[in-house]
Amino acid sequence: MKRLVVLTGAGMSAESGIKTFRDMGGVWEQYDVMEVASPEGWARHPEVVLEFYNQRRKQLFECLPNKGHYLLAELENYFDVQIITQNVDDLHERAGSTKVLHLHGELKKARSTADPTLVYDLDHWELKLGDKCEKGSQLRPHIVWFGEPVPAINDAEKKVRKADIFIVIGTSLTVYPAAGLLMDVLPGTPVFLIDPGELNIPGGLNVTHIKKKASEGIEELKSILINEN
Ligand code: OAD
Repeated sequence: MKRLVVLTGAGMSAESGIKTFRDMGGVWEQYDVMEVASPEGWARHPEVVLEFYNQRRKQLFECLPNKGHYLLAELENYFDVQIITQNVDDLHERAGSTKVLHLHGELKKARSTADPTLVYDLDHWELKLGDKCEKGSQLRPHIVWFGEPVPAINDAEKKVRKADIFIVIGTSLTVYPAAGLLMDVLPGTPVFLIDPGELNIPGGLNVTHIKKKASEGIEELKSILINEN
């Protein structure tokens, strides 16, 4: 089976009702990223950070995967599909994708501030000051904040280097190291980009830009890939 590696960003979940970050009206127009998504913000006012992620988690419990998520899961009938997502939602998993690597953490998990290996599933939306790990330390959102290392990046780079086809969906490709994954594809590998916006794409790549929303774009890509397979 050919190996498809798919990098997804906020645009993948837009049709599920989750706002993107940098489009007009996006999350970073409403909030100051350094206040709610950085270690400094957490040190200054953890209650503000917890509330920001609580609201996003609450919304996630009410959202459903969209057609694009389901189409990607269906592609597993034809290809070995590895998803690498910048999204912290669980919509790929809920749609049935079996191999999902989260680069920026997961909203439905919390982790210890004292021991990063202690990670817990959250079955409710609210994480509060005073919620502690088994060692007695405050729990924080299991999210990679700005300025923090991205532990999954090495694994992601290895997977991208093994891709027969690389697909990028709904990301502005502005946040590194995730955006740099595009440069890890082996020379000549077909790259498909699904995004309704204009993107700055580095030269030297074999890129086809399907300028559509995720659901429509993946439908079009699916027929291209299956006809060629
Ligand atoms: P952005 O908000 O930067 O980019 C969203 C992209 O989705 C843009 O290129 C849009 O054109 C595209 N888009 C919008 N609607 C779409 C749709 N219906 N279908 C397909 N594409 C659509 O989001 P990301 O690139 O994911 O990190 O942002 C990367 C990281 O920055 C996030 O993971 C987050 C953020 O700060 C952290 O919080 C650590």
